[in-house]
Amino acid sequence: MLLELAANRRILFFGGKGGVGKTTVSAATALAMADAGKNVLLVSTDPAHNLGHLFDRKIGPSPVRLAPGLDGMELDPEQTVEQHLQEVTAALRRMMPIHLAAEVDKHMELSRDAPGMQEAAILERIAEVAEQSSSYDLIVFDTAPSGHTARLMALPEMMSAWTDGLIKRREKADRFSAVLNSLAKDTDMGDKAFGGDAENLVEDRESRIRRLLNRRKQRFAGLRDTIADHKKTGFVIVLAAERLPVLETIELYAQLKRAGVDVAGLVVNKRLPEGMQGFLAERRMQEEIHLAMLSDKLGRLQRKDLTLAAHDVLGVDGLRAFAQKF
Ligand SMILES: Nc1ncnc2c1ncn2[C@@H]1O[C@H](COP(=O)(O)OP(=O)(O)OP(=O)(O)O)[C@@H](O)[C@H]1O
Ligand SMILES: [Mg+2]
Repeated sequence: MLLELAANRRILFFGGKGGVGKTTVSAATALAMADAGKNVLLVSTDPAHNLGHLFDRKIGPSPVRLAPGLDGMELDPEQTVEQHLQEVTAALRRMMPIHLAAEVDKHMELSRDAPGMQEAAILERIAEVAEQSSSYDLIVFDTAPSGHTARLMALPEMMSAWTDGLIKRREKADRFSAVLNSLAKDTDMGDKAFGGDAENLVEDRESRIRRLLNRRKQRFAGLRDTIADHKKTGFVIVLAAERLPVLETIELYAQLKRAGVDVAGLVVNKRLPEGMQGFLAERRMQEEIHLAMLSDKLGRLQRKDLTLAAHDVLGVDGLRAFAQKF
């Protein structure tokens, strides 16, 4: 089921609670698709990266080759926030009167730890990766534990509304300064009021700000369109067959749906094997009870159950063996 899902899409997100197997399942899916001849990029958006542990090698914020046809990268939240803050600060400083520059800096310094900052920065990087990775047939995103992810998915909408607002204000300010400029020219004050080449400088500055804002707007709009295109993009929820994960999956599904995201399928991972006795048999019965609730609410979704293996899944060989069950 997972390989069919991946074969028909260009972008797949894997999300779910902590420790359920998002990294393992997404990496195994990516590797299996690469083995099938696709050019695949595997991206970890989780601040607590574990792609590196899984492949037992260092993976940074730029793509590295993990296997034939498979590249991997880990978005670096610190660096992402830094870059994002610098861009936004530069844009704001250009938009505000010079005497408020120190205020802008102070505000942005406080924003560094503001709730949502990391998500916004990571979202911008996801948008960038989705936009710039046209050489890949498939991009697989291994996301951070849920809650986070659903908010992230709703963000493109918010972010493009935010940049839209800024652009509108900018346009108003532009019209205002155009009037000022022509007034100054009429009264032959231009050069004195703004200094030598001031008019050109102002125009240049304006167009740079607009370009920056428009680029961000397009990037978020692009991501929103990509996410909304259910033929291209899907979300797979990974969960364990326990009561709370099942309840949270039902909630996550509703949140994703509200954000316009197509939940392409469910993976119930680490299921206890069949045919056991005593404690394990009883536990498996419990799983069936919880999964009945899942079927009741989300029965129309495709579902794949994966059994708990005796050993951890590690490295390219381990992932290949794991993907045999897909
Ligand atoms: N079906 C399975 N059988 C045995 N071990 C598994 C299975 N699936 C995952 N694991 C193991 O469980 C551990 C957690 O898996 P993984 O790192 O993929 O979870 P995660 O959802 O990405 O966690 P996090 O939320 O911390 O990112 C790993 O040690 C992995 O090898
Ligand atoms: Mg993980």
